[in-house]
Amino acid sequence: MSARKIIIDTDPGQDDAVAILLALASPEELEVLGITCVAGNVPLPLTERNARIVCELAGKPDIKVFAGCDAPLARKLVTAEHVHGKTGLDGPTLPAPTMALQPEHAVDFIINTLRAEPSGTVTLCPLGPLTNIATAFQRAPDIAPRVAEIVLMGGAYFEVGNITPAAEFNIYVDPEAADIVFRSGAPITVMPLDVTHKALVTRARNEAFRSIGSPVGIAVAQMTEFFERYDKEKYGSEGAPLHDPCVTAYLLQPGLFTGRHINVEIETHSPLTLGMTVADWWRVTNRAPNCTFMGNVNADGFFALLTERLARL
Ligand code: BDR
Ligand code: CA
Repeated sequence: MSARKIIIDTDPGQDDAVAILLALASPEELEVLGITCVAGNVPLPLTERNARIVCELAGKPDIKVFAGCDAPLARKLVTAEHVHGKTGLDGPTLPAPTMALQPEHAVDFIINTLRAEPSGTVTLCPLGPLTNIATAFQRAPDIAPRVAEIVLMGGAYFEVGNITPAAEFNIYVDPEAADIVFRSGAPITVMPLDVTHKALVTRARNEAFRSIGSPVGIAVAQMTEFFERYDKEKYGSEGAPLHDPCVTAYLLQPGLFTGRHINVEIETHSPLTLGMTVADWWRVTNRAPNCTFMGNVNADGFFALLTERLARL
């Protein structure tokens, strides 16, 4: 079988970095057509720089990296340096990137790629606020029906929120964009906090990364060590959740995850619950299902896959 074509839309972020590394370590299954960057965890000049740093860390300087939207559709950017550090990739000391940023705007790349490739063959993998994807759908309404699948990290139901009591960060930063994407009609698979909070980097799992012994293994161990301090303090958990790699792991081994095909709507008005993913998990409305919302992950299987693949880089 030929590799699945994907576009990774991202705001690196240490967990975004691990998600990208997992994809780049799996060329037999995943063909990364491009990495499109968006403002989120840190401002755009840092997210596009971080994406290039990660490609070079993986030894893949030929991957195309694009800069996209530098602010949400209708709001001021909210960032997360309190989690990811000043650069967004705090932890390891990694060299400044030498590979060039692509001249094309990320949104144009998404539109042109979905038009150029056969319909139903390109999967979008958003790991940050949905600004780039929503802008592309707004500008080119013909592309949503051409998307094979959108597999995204965002939202929460049982875990409710991490940036506010009601909302998960990626959706909260640009709720209008999320609303456009969830109403787009494209097939959507969601990795919410309900799943990612079960994918915790314990000490043993981080030692497994470090024991790979390569620059990638050591850098991943240092990244997770950096951002776990925040989650350990906040949740009293054993380690940090690896949110975004759940997206790329799903593409490689969908059987690791279980969920429900349900309706999810985005709160775009209430100041109290802005960005909430109102998930009809119990199917108590007759609103039509618009996504598969995951609820569980085989965490041991997930970390086994991750460690085995990272060792290939
Ligand atoms: C999401 O927000 C970011 O901080 C992470 O990179 C992840 O995409 C988790 O809420
Ligand atoms: Ca992210």
